[in-house]
Amino acid sequence: MSKLIVAGRQKLSGATEVQGAKNSALPVLAATLLAKGENVIYNCPVLSDVEASSRVLRYLGCTVNRSSHTLAVKSAGACRGDIPDELMRKTRSSIVFLGALLASAGNARLSLPGGCEIGQRPIDMHLRGLRALGALIKEKHGYIECSAPYGLSGARIALSFPSVGATEDIMIAAATASGTTTITNAAREPEICDLADYLNKCGAEIYGAGEGVIVIEGVKELHACSHTIIPDRIAAATLMSCAAVTGSEITLKNVIPSHLAAVIPVFEEAGCTVKSHGCELAFSAPQRLKSMKTVRTMPYPGFPTDAQAPLLAAACVAKGTSVFVENIFENRYRHVSELIRMGANLKTEGKVCVAEGVPCLYGAKVEATDLRGAAALVAAGLCAESATVISGVRFLERGYESLEQTLCGLGADVKKI
Ligand code: EPZ
Repeated sequence: MSKLIVAGRQKLSGATEVQGAKNSALPVLAATLLAKGENVIYNCPVLSDVEASSRVLRYLGCTVNRSSHTLAVKSAGACRGDIPDELMRKTRSSIVFLGALLASAGNARLSLPGGCEIGQRPIDMHLRGLRALGALIKEKHGYIECSAPYGLSGARIALSFPSVGATEDIMIAAATASGTTTITNAAREPEICDLADYLNKCGAEIYGAGEGVIVIEGVKELHACSHTIIPDRIAAATLMSCAAVTGSEITLKNVIPSHLAAVIPVFEEAGCTVKSHGCELAFSAPQRLKSMKTVRTMPYPGFPTDAQAPLLAAACVAKGTSVFVENIFENRYRHVSELIRMGANLKTEGKVCVAEGVPCLYGAKVEATDLRGAAALVAAGLCAESATVISGVRFLERGYESLEQTLCGLGADVKKI
């Protein structure tokens, strides 16, 4: 198992390009199942989760070839309706294949994705939405068996929560359903807009993505197209956290500042300055951060839950008390115990984590248990008094394209062993 050795007392400088968005690439890849012909997906990050999705596409009869950050997906529609366990287990976000599979093969059989490190991750809203479109769904012995014997037809679907995955699953399935589908209380994340842009380029008719109500006029079929994945706003927020904890000045290239509208003010409250010029962000941090007062994670356009862990690492060494409220996932503070091992003064109580800033953290042997928690440990390691050894690097590789190389490119001393 590889580990990361993060030297302490680091300073970052220079510029780096932000990767393509993992949470946009994954649903777009699932949707290529419906887009017959050769899809060319640019700015597709090199991640184990993307690799896992490529394996699912190959299993379903597509050819997938990568050259650098471009993925060519040749799709003729799904040649089978099942995804085997070992492929489903690789990444729980393969649940977004459900809608694509149902629309393409007319049936789908896959194992329940199950919970993960950050929560139980139920899929009731996915299933309720697909049933509204006419899918017959049985859940038994850990499997979902779906069929659409009469095809899928448009429906009015109201989500009880603006679930990103459920919105994506329904959008993909409704794109070629007969009739009109309306999703109210839809997720508004930029990744939803990116998926809608891709589907519309394939001939879909989707209106209102990014708003609370999305209307999908079903079309007969979709054709392949080329598409560039948007920049990863969470990777950008993670690099900002790394610069914030080390009192550094860096430039991020290939960002969309408006996607960070809820994140930037938190860093500014902590004493950082953030200047955007087009798709570049100039970020500089003070020698010591001020506290972030209160950070509440919310559905977009609120503060993103995926940025909570890296930002909490920064709050550990800020001057004063910061309060975090994690409103999206029920178990997203697993990095707290490891940060405490490094000398952080943190207390969690349910959704709330109170960070009393300490002057410095100390290097330690720590264990990552989820993707964003791993990033928090890397950020904390950069400012610790001595080296930190982080195990569980496989979690990091799910969502960050060689974070250690990116940080070394900014002058840090981070080694993978
Ligand atoms: C997506 O997960 C992202 N993953 C997550 O990023 C992100 O944290 C999350 O959206 C919120 O922004 C991908 O896009 C691949 P949800 P998703 O459905 O779709 C509950 C990362 O670190 N819920 O919006 O699973 C659910 O349990 C990952 O990159 C139901 O109850 O998120 C959660 O509490 C982590 N029933 C809340 O809603 C459902 O049917 C939000 O989940 C679906 C969700």
